[in-house]
Amino acid sequence: MSTTHGAAPGEQLTAEEAAQLSPEEAMMAGAEADGVYIVHRRDRFPIAGTKAEKRAERTIAIIFLIGFLAAVAFIVVFCGAVPFEWRLPGTGNQNYRYFTPLIGGLLGLSLACIGIGVVLWAKWLLPEEEAVQDRHDGASDMTAQILGAGTLVSGFEDLGIARRSMLKSTLGLAGGALAAVPLVALIGAMIKKPNRGPRQSLFHTPFEAGVPLVYYDGRRVSPDDLLPGGLATVFPGVEGGTKDADSPTLLIRLRPGQAVKARKGQADFGWGDYVAFSKICTHAGCPASLYEQKTGRLLCPCHQSQFDVLQDAKPVFGPATRSLPKLPLNVEMVDGRQYFIARDDYPEAIGPSFWERP
Ligand code: FES
Repeated sequence: MSTTHGAAPGEQLTAEEAAQLSPEEAMMAGAEADGVYIVHRRDRFPIAGTKAEKRAERTIAIIFLIGFLAAVAFIVVFCGAVPFEWRLPGTGNQNYRYFTPLIGGLLGLSLACIGIGVVLWAKWLLPEEEAVQDRHDGASDMTAQILGAGTLVSGFEDLGIARRSMLKSTLGLAGGALAAVPLVALIGAMIKKPNRGPRQSLFHTPFEAGVPLVYYDGRRVSPDDLLPGGLATVFPGVEGGTKDADSPTLLIRLRPGQAVKARKGQADFGWGDYVAFSKICTHAGCPASLYEQKTGRLLCPCHQSQFDVLQDAKPVFGPATRSLPKLPLNVEMVDGRQYFIARDDYPEAIGPSFWERP
């Protein structure tokens, strides 16, 4: 039985002999030397340039092109062609609901097209091959390494990169555009001001002067509701107020004898023995609501930051570095009963400290 390189089965090639082989011969010789038996191998298109081959190539190129266009569309949308506040026509006030799915869908489409294109390339254009391999112990010698490299080069040649220029260009386009996506997201996030728009949404909540404080079910909040030491999560009583991520507010009734050492300019933010702080942790935005009424400590369960309510929600333990913003309170009379209203919006940005930077 002869082998592809003319040596008897099991006969070792020298490094010089191996270096003389073509990549495909080296691949076959390497396979034999490694105990790999190629039981079936045939080109899918033995005659190059047939209509069927060109059709397969065109189909894959179109898929790569779609991937390229989707990646470019992602970049264009991300860079501001579609405003962040974009709404589908006829969807009323449901702001911001479609921007993220739009860029996610485009990126997903781009990745899917490149993946599908590569799989089809392998299935439709690479040679069919079935091989069986025995495993061996230990490291390979120099001859085996040269033959292994030949195997890799032969596989690369099988891809037909050199002669399939249409696929090469379209895959390059799609891959290049996709590779630009993380850069655009990274650089864009640094140069694009996230608080654009008249309301500067990252710096304001739906609270403003006269907005009632309500529970999650919409009931208004009265100073009679809580016992001393009690706490409730309240929201602005406006449309969408309970769903706004910046809105959750902790209304705390101090125990007798407790007083808050207010920060500068906020001495009158409380009302009676009530104070209200943002519930959104200034470390990473988790809801901080584990309150120990005796000590006035508020714990964020995510990374154990503790805020001292009696020191105006100053962080006293854990990774948070900024006090919880305080909401200025007032009350109004409705049908002979007092109800809380906001005197204004929070004077500082809500949540992680990053957003407080100018
Ligand atoms: S989010 Fe609150 S401690 Fe990290």
